[in-house]
Amino acid sequence: MNDDRVEEPEKRQVLWVKESLLFNGTIPKNVPNDGLARLNHAPTKLIAQTFAFVESILNAPRSKQWRKPTLSILNSPFSTKKMITIVAGTNRPLSKTIEVAHFYQNLLQSHQTPSQILDLADLPDDFVFSALYNNAGQNEEFNAMHDVMAGSEKFVFVVPEYNNSFPGVLKAFIDGMSYPSVLTSKKCALVGISDGVQGNALGLSHFTDVLNYLGMNVLAQKVRVPFMRKNFVDGEIKDALIAQLVDDQARLLLAF
Ligand SMILES: Cc1cc2nc3c(=O)[nH]c(=O)nc-3n(C[C@H](O)[C@H](O)[C@H](O)COP(=O)(O)O)c2cc1C
Repeated sequence: MNDDRVEEPEKRQVLWVKESLLFNGTIPKNVPNDGLARLNHAPTKLIAQTFAFVESILNAPRSKQWRKPTLSILNSPFSTKKMITIVAGTNRPLSKTIEVAHFYQNLLQSHQTPSQILDLADLPDDFVFSALYNNAGQNEEFNAMHDVMAGSEKFVFVVPEYNNSFPGVLKAFIDGMSYPSVLTSKKCALVGISDGVQGNALGLSHFTDVLNYLGMNVLAQKVRVPFMRKNFVDGEIKDALIAQLVDDQARLLLAF
């Protein structure tokens, strides 16, 4: 689409949203709007509503003036925005990541804050084939995990270092969120862990870029736990400074 033909910045934004929906593959090009509206699946309905909204603006008479689209319009209507969800960012069975997620849950509980854990090890084995792109909304197990994300207000991502970055499965999971993203305008804290010296510093940076692209607010205080075998034993952080930094981060997340 040629943006030069569209002068109003708001209209350009709307066109970009429409193009993105199509590009993302969440809306197959050959499905008409009324067909989309009949589909009985919440994320698809959201997309259908957003699509209808985009269409209504595109088709509105000029005299009606533009209603400036805001990102909040594009947020999930089924989000309860109440719960903190701790995402264990790998699907590796018996991971250290899930242990750290439980540690963080206990930490939040010590601050009188309940939370829930979403473990990527619970992802359906075939989700990259059965739940993404044109198959969005087709896999009920994935839909349930998607809806946990949609219904959460804040997140803690525990992110292990895999080959100097964050795990590919975490990116695939994020790619499976409906678009515009259910993460937009929400808040999160990041915890990086590794066996080596870096505590996934670079992976947290990579992941921050992805989350920022989706409009998510990432808490500046990122915590890294390097040398996990020494620093995380029996479900506890052994290094006093790191333990203090994690506690500081949890407090900041609650105030975020
Ligand atoms: C596929 C893979 C790649 C990894 N790459 C790195 C790495 O680049 N640097 C590092 O320090 N540790 C690396 N690790 C070790 C993990 O970061 C470390 O074990 C982490 O504390 C917990 O990972 P887990 O949740 O899979 O148990 C890697 C582990 C796996 C399984």
